[in-house]
Amino acid sequence: MKVPHIPVLLDSVKETFSNIKDGYIVDCTVGYGGHSEAILDQNGNVKLICCDQDKVAIDFSKKRLEKYKDRIIFENAKFSSVISKYKDFPIRGILADIGVSSLQLDDKDRGFGFDSDMLDMRMDKTNSLDAHEVINNYTQEDLQEILRDFGEVRDFKRAAKIICDEREKREIRSSAQLSKLFKNFPSKKGINPATLIFQAIRIEVNDELGELARLLKAVQISKLSDCTIAIISFHSLEDRIVKRVFKEFAKSCICPPGFMKCECGNNHSIGKIITKKPIIPTKKEINLNPRSRSSKMRIFKIK
Ligand SMILES: C[S@@+](CC[C@H](N)C(=O)[O-])C[C@H]1O[C@@H](n2cnc3c(N)ncnc32)[C@H](O)[C@@H]1O
Repeated sequence: MKVPHIPVLLDSVKETFSNIKDGYIVDCTVGYGGHSEAILDQNGNVKLICCDQDKVAIDFSKKRLEKYKDRIIFENAKFSSVISKYKDFPIRGILADIGVSSLQLDDKDRGFGFDSDMLDMRMDKTNSLDAHEVINNYTQEDLQEILRDFGEVRDFKRAAKIICDEREKREIRSSAQLSKLFKNFPSKKGINPATLIFQAIRIEVNDELGELARLLKAVQISKLSDCTIAIISFHSLEDRIVKRVFKEFAKSCICPPGFMKCECGNNHSIGKIITKKPIIPTKKEINLNPRSRSSKMRIFKIK
């Protein structure tokens, strides 16, 4: 079976979960099953809950992981809903490898790639909001806000104007048409100048930061125990959220700053941060799989 996606930080993911001997691990983003397969292979008695909001990914993984089917529950759902659904199961691990898969990027019908014939970018095809709607119907002010907040585009006003000027002349129908508008936009060497524009639109369409925040909230309130959480992110907006929330998880005292004496009971920590610094790919991995270059994994252990 030809696999359309190379799992990132695979050895570190395997090591992270290597001590789990029973119970369940939730793979929040099963994608094309690379991480799941390695975990199923390594952790003989462990069962997996394999989630993805993309039906194409779920269907692919069902085939790829056929021989492990008695140990897997598949969930074609958003990961923010999965932890609360299974909170009474003995969940010993949670993995989320967030972002787009190579198949999503390379499929010209999905609109994630710079040369795509569509302007879609939905990971979940049943979502009502797509990139065509954002690009053609959002106000210039809303576009500016998205480009600033989700793309950290330095010249977000000019970028929004470029989109609005074009759509006044003709409807923007494809990602290829969108990326061409930015061919002369400033960018780092070797990076497509439309990269941050695409990132911003994709985050808006899939509510990616909201999803991550809701996943972490679900983890916090689900009263899990003895559970290792590993989150792989691909840009600083996500990594910042993970870093901040893991710090909150670890905090024992939650009194407002300025209190002279602790009044909260000083017992609010749910566990400890395992990675003071995120785990990043080696040069060798980046050479083999350039798409891994911006990945960062942070790990937290719930006590
Ligand atoms: C980077 S790929 C995962 C690849 C996978 N680890 C592998 O080894 O093949 C990310 C996957 O996460 C899915 N995804 C992203 N956000 C999601 C969410 N909020 N809920 C469910 N799935 C999500 C995407 O559809 C995509 O298939």
